[in-house]
Amino acid sequence: MKRKVKVRVPATSANLGPGFDSIGLALQIYNELTLSVAAGLQPTVEVVGEGAASLPRDGSHLSLRAADSLFKAAGLKPPTWNLHQSNRIPPGSGLGSSAAAIVGGLYAANTFLPDPFSRERLLELAIELEGHPDNVAPALYGGMVISCRGCGRWHTFHDAPFPGLRLLLALPELTLSTSEARRVLPEQVPRSDAVFNTGRAAALTAALLTGNEEPLSWATEDRLHQPYRCPLIPGAEAALAAARRAGASGAAISGAGPSIIAFWFERGEADLRAGNVAAALEDAFTGAGIRCRVISTTVDNNGVTLLI
Ligand code: HSE
Repeated sequence: MKRKVKVRVPATSANLGPGFDSIGLALQIYNELTLSVAAGLQPTVEVVGEGAASLPRDGSHLSLRAADSLFKAAGLKPPTWNLHQSNRIPPGSGLGSSAAAIVGGLYAANTFLPDPFSRERLLELAIELEGHPDNVAPALYGGMVISCRGCGRWHTFHDAPFPGLRLLLALPELTLSTSEARRVLPEQVPRSDAVFNTGRAAALTAALLTGNEEPLSWATEDRLHQPYRCPLIPGAEAALAAARRAGASGAAISGAGPSIIAFWFERGEADLRAGNVAAALEDAFTGAGIRCRVISTTVDNNGVTLLI
């Protein structure tokens, strides 16, 4: 059996406005996981970088739970693991840190199996652990991914967005758990809100694939989750509006929040938008008494990758 493996797994931004629990994008912000089989009976976990102060250092670490679940799904007894994690994805920020932990753990552990699972099977296992597909699917495949459940299984459509998609992320200094951000959502919505979202989710997908910038402003509007979540994130509503005014074509809560994602297509000319949008995002959160940091990134089109 192989003794050591290192994988790189991207951050993700889910929903992008109207694609609640369905659409996600992989980002060029990465965690690296090194997994090896330990000689002793107790797993060891080292974490450096984002989340180093808070993430568990024992077998309850999400990557090790994912690795164990993969072995069990293969009908094998999991070995004892050594995990080293070097993190750039801030936990609890709406950038898919738990999806990265799950996908990284599954993908790394899969290389130890005598008969490894396909990516499709890894996706099924990842969704079981995460509970929804829109972060784990882009972490696995890269690019933009649409996930749907039908005929008793998960289906994905994945492709690279049109080149030049520029992304800014505003990370307010707030904690908001996904479970809390899901608890505020209504079980049922009016038909008019459902119709509002279906057209926009389709238009958003088409715009991202074709590079048609015009629809992005209205196609990132949403009535299924953002109106209920904005009150939990002081400054979010102002930040969404300010980012658009400053030149972002689309702006949305990233995943369950609290981060905000703003994006547009760069056209080769000197683009002043990045500076203007970053300043607008910072000012909006500062105006609500919340400090925030802004990260500039673009799309990852590879998904989880084997480094060693
Ligand atoms: N679609 C999920 C939600 C993403 O919005 O709750 C969580 O990261």
